Amino acid sequence: MTTEPGEKRRPESEIDRPSAYDAWVQSEGVPVIKGYYIDDLNGVALGPWKRKGGNGAFINLVGSEGSTDAYICEIPPGKNLEPQHHLYEEMIYILSGRGATTIWNEGGTRQTFEWQEGSLFAIPINAWHQHFNGQGDKLVRYLGATNAPLVVSLFHNMDFVLKDSFVFKDRYSGEHDYFTSPGDFFSSRDRIWETNFVPDVRTAKLYDWKERGASGVNIRYELADNTMAAHISQFPEGTYKKAHRHGPGANVIIISGTGYSLIWPEGQPKMKIDWKVGSMFVPPDRWFHQHFNTGREPAKYLALRMGSRKNILGKIFRIDEDVRSGGDQIEYKGQEPEIEKMFGKELAKKGLKSRMAQFLV
Ligand SMILES: [Fe+2]
Repeated sequence: MTTEPGEKRRPESEIDRPSAYDAWVQSEGVPVIKGYYIDDLNGVALGPWKRKGGNGAFINLVGSEGSTDAYICEIPPGKNLEPQHHLYEEMIYILSGRGATTIWNEGGTRQTFEWQEGSLFAIPINAWHQHFNGQGDKLVRYLGATNAPLVVSLFHNMDFVLKDSFVFKDRYSGEHDYFTSPGDFFSSRDRIWETNFVPDVRTAKLYDWKERGASGVNIRYELADNTMAAHISQFPEGTYKKAHRHGPGANVIIISGTGYSLIWPEGQPKMKIDWKVGSMFVPPDRWFHQHFNTGREPAKYLALRMGSRKNILGKIFRIDEDVRSGGDQIEYKGQEPEIEKMFGKELAKKGLKSRMAQFLV
């Protein structure tokens, strides 16, 4: 091996090392859940989380691919977590329990809002926040979805990410109705609500999105002026949606029904993920994914993901347009016959029949 003039030799370990995000996650000292899916978010074992002041676990599924992450945190009965603020975006979905959150900007007035199982809200970027369990006899368990992998690896300086005091007044400046206003609805622009608090995603009003197939209904949420966004989709029993693909980091959480999803990279074998309420998975970057309802009630999921239409970051995929004309969706007529056959077999195991004939003509 030749040596260049002035060359400094450094150990290979300084080059081939974990990302700053992965190193930070390891240093937090709580369990890290990997793989493609989680069967039940309510059953995930947690560990003491000193920085948060409760119990928790990181969720780093394969499909996140350095874009978003998720974590679970539990607040003991009658207790609260430590005050925090951070330079990554965060949406919070309450898995169980009831409580309140106090929010304030550095040096600003505090306001508190209440939430319960099924609530969804976003912490304004870098705003101080503290979560309280509102019951003395029950745990609170919530799921946080963030873009920490992007932000932490970009700056790779946790003092900056967790301790910088800049106030994003353009995102939040103490508006008294920030968490109580229903927000603004854009019906002509893909069924988008701009809001900061959804009382219960399980009962939110949904709207037709016929392009995705099977009489499905949907709503999108853009919270706290983030680049991340959320949506809820529901589709009837005995049906399945069309397959489509997009970028990484869409955290899909089942909030109603039972069924399965197929996920696959183009031209490769398909992976089957069985799900029920509380299951979660993240389709990897550009993998096709298709959701099947094999239960006796409508299936519904919440997605916490990249892809705000208001604050665009990265590529916008054509998720409801035919791949044969340059889009990212496989129409029913273009799908492999095995898809329908498999669905029929899975329904038969439960004594149920497909209701897809009306959509496949
Ligand atoms: Fe998707």
